[in-house]
Amino acid sequence: MKGLAGVRAGTMMSLWLMVAATAFAQSGTSATPETGALDARAMEKLARTRNCMTCHATDRTLLAPSYRDIAKRYAGQPAAADELARSISEGSQGKWGKIPMPAGLQLAPGEANSLARWILGMAPAPRS
Ligand code: HEC
Repeated sequence: MKGLAGVRAGTMMSLWLMVAATAFAQSGTSATPETGALDARAMEKLARTRNCMTCHATDRTLLAPSYRDIAKRYAGQPAAADELARSISEGSQGKWGKIPMPAGLQLAPGEANSLARWILGMAPAPRS
């Protein structure tokens, strides 16, 4: 079984590298004032090191909803950052489909909140 796990980890790793490369290529213009003080590149790195990108992608639905879909769904809701931060730290189920998001993703204090605000900043044209 060890061998199998190794192969899976390798596949995951190259997936991550692809995501990283794509994100890097697109990150030139992504730091808009709407995303607040968050550094887009640093946030992407955090999301990768916290394994968020194993299940999520920015533009595509994988196991989990894409960050853009999440941002769209919660756009204009003042309580959204808190609600998403809670989902990120405590897990979530039944909101998007049958697959739950596990709790206990090993985040440092404040990280769930930054990640929530980073994701919310991905909504297409923000309403004025
Ligand atoms: C094991 C797979 C997995 C991992 C790892 C994961 N997620 Fe999720 N995530 C999901 C699934 C599945 C859902 C949909 C849950 C539901 O239907 O309520 C979800 C939902 C969400 C939502 C929407 C929650 C809501 O209240 O609508 C956010 C935001 C989110 N994830 C962010 C993150 C972040 C940030 C990380 C990394 C710290 C992360 N996810 C790691 C699978 C994952």
